[in-house]
Amino acid sequence: MKIWVLLLLVAVTSAKVFDRCELVRTLKAAGMSGFKGISLADWVCLANAESRYNTQATNKNTDGSTDYGIFQINNRWWCSNGQFPSHNGCRISCSELLTDNISAAIQCAKTIVSQQGISAWVGWRNKCKNRDVSQYIV
Ligand SMILES: *[C@@H]1O[C@H](CO)[C@@H](O)[C@H](O)[C@H]1NC(C)=O
Repeated sequence: MKIWVLLLLVAVTSAKVFDRCELVRTLKAAGMSGFKGISLADWVCLANAESRYNTQATNKNTDGSTDYGIFQINNRWWCSNGQFPSHNGCRISCSELLTDNISAAIQCAKTIVSQQGISAWVGWRNKCKNRDVSQYIV
């Protein structure tokens, strides 16, 4: 019985879907507003487009790589799961991108946007680029 309660607690605490306003506050506190000229609204729109704010989201790509977490960061280029060949540009384990503490994901997103710009994210290009994203930070 005890073990089930413990497992349930682990599941509850590690599978986090951010409330939009909570994400706005967290990203702001992490210095994402205006980072590399990208607005807070664009970051929130990106997270919505990529993961619907779910820190545990994973999706497989046609090339066999996988995208991880709230910003759907790719394991061919930015993180390593120890199996798929990776450049591991953020020098992190992909599992760190799936926790409810998104500070590793934010740091990695900063690395990505510094090197490639916000257009690195397909979700941003498809759902946020050239759109009014102001409602995401209301
Ligand atoms: C989140 O993780 C970072 C380091 O990865 C740590 O500095 C910070 O204190 C953590 N925040 C919380 C709320 O646990």
